[in-house]
Amino acid sequence: MTTHRIAVLGGDGIGPEVVAEGLKVLDRLEQLEGFTTERVDYDLGGRRYLATGEVLSDATLEQLRSFDAIYLGAVGTPDVPPGIIERGLLLKVRFAFDQYVNLRPVKLYPGVDSPVAGLTPERCDLVVVRENTESVYAGAGGVLYPGTPAEVATQESVNTRHGVERVLRYAFEAARGRRGHLTLVHKTNVLTHAGGLWMRAFEEVGDADFPDVQRDYVHVDAACLYLVTQPERFDVVVTENLFGDIITDLGAAVQGGMGLAASANLDPTRRAPSMFEPVHGSAPDIVGTGRADPLAAVMSLGQLLAFLGEQGAADRVERAVAALLAERRGAVPDGVGTTTSEVGDRLVQLVAEA
Ligand code: IPM
Ligand code: MN
Repeated sequence: MTTHRIAVLGGDGIGPEVVAEGLKVLDRLEQLEGFTTERVDYDLGGRRYLATGEVLSDATLEQLRSFDAIYLGAVGTPDVPPGIIERGLLLKVRFAFDQYVNLRPVKLYPGVDSPVAGLTPERCDLVVVRENTESVYAGAGGVLYPGTPAEVATQESVNTRHGVERVLRYAFEAARGRRGHLTLVHKTNVLTHAGGLWMRAFEEVGDADFPDVQRDYVHVDAACLYLVTQPERFDVVVTENLFGDIITDLGAAVQGGMGLAASANLDPTRRAPSMFEPVHGSAPDIVGTGRADPLAAVMSLGQLLAFLGEQGAADRVERAVAALLAERRGAVPDGVGTTTSEVGDRLVQLVAEA
């Protein structure tokens, strides 16, 4: 029997609450599909930082490296200054493990109300492949004369041919496995240096190795418009790190909210573990209320299982999530609740069906 080793980082706020539901579903999937997991909890995040002063030591990072996957809830607490947990934990893992693809599906499930009036599921099923290790996230730049009237701040966008080409190749492959259409999103009319590199690599890789994939290009501002007005024009979207960050929040809104937005930080080469996390944050305002929607965490678990080769289990998650969302639309069946843990309980039932 296959055993997968999973590092579990519940994190802060609602992170541990939604991850607990994901793990409940995972327990059931193991019985149904005949695999096992060995899970090790790591106490990391803002709360831990405030208590110990430690964000993520190199020793802990090296322990994490030995796992097959990392399952993350959410990190960050309001009382920690911005950047410390983001850079010291989340980005540290993404960069150290070279998780160069951030995969974020934008899919409107039947039964879910989109804020876009009249949007139907047939018109909204795309995935964003966000470059995850470069651009302004690389942290290049600095500050001169801080706090003085002469203060200067630079924040450079780093784009390497290597980094761009590998994420483009991943996106072309993804498009090949879907409807065969890839859209590059950038801002080539203004960011001519970085945009030029992206566009040349896009054309060259497409011509040389993916002539069967139809490709086009959309400026990021127009992409925001189309994501709302005609999401059906997208199949796979590939874009640089910051644009990908921004448009996937818009995508999350279009598909019905952050509670439904899953995300996978992938090292497709599998040299290091990949990390799976809902897009939403730690939502400190609703901690302990039972109002956190565990679906994004469960859908991220589905991505984790697919990546580890447990496709049967991943398919069960997909069907169960779809079934649950359809139920929400109608009258919720007798005996089925709607709190965080009740949704988890219902998913445990639903993954066993069909
Ligand atoms: C996300 C988040 C992170 C990002 C932050 C918390 C560093 O917004 O995963 O989208 O910008 O990548
Ligand atoms: Mn974001």
